[in-house]
Amino acid sequence: MTAFSAERRRLLKAALGLAPAAVLLAASGCAPAAAPATANDLRVPLAQLPEGQRVRLHMGDRPIEVVRTGDRIEARSLWCTHMGCEVTWEEQRSRYRCPCHDGEFDAQGLPVGGPPKRPLRRLEALVQGDAVVLRMPEAAS
Ligand code: FES
Repeated sequence: MTAFSAERRRLLKAALGLAPAAVLLAASGCAPAAAPATANDLRVPLAQLPEGQRVRLHMGDRPIEVVRTGDRIEARSLWCTHMGCEVTWEEQRSRYRCPCHDGEFDAQGLPVGGPPKRPLRRLEALVQGDAVVLRMPEAAS
């Protein structure tokens, strides 16, 4: 299985899993603060993004991280670009580490160790009023 086919499978699962959740939320009258519109975009109130903190969210079933620094917002997928395991940020080492095959990425998401050859995927971030819309660009490969 390639990393790309694993990602497509996850996206399909996410799309299938969102519909029942949306029905339940609508029936209960509740709406999440950061509501996924699709598996590939997410609207997040700026109030949920404290200055300089790494905020972990989900876009469908994909874990993402968002960091707000002044007017700048950086967001990236936390799926390792090797085989799709979830990476975690290690503050002491200033590295993202993948537990599956010891892949490592620097603070910008660039691969610096282990088998990953591609950077962590970055999301587009567009501020609209008091929220930011995060969008996963189409896969290049
Ligand atoms: S899945 Fe991350 S290093 Fe292999």
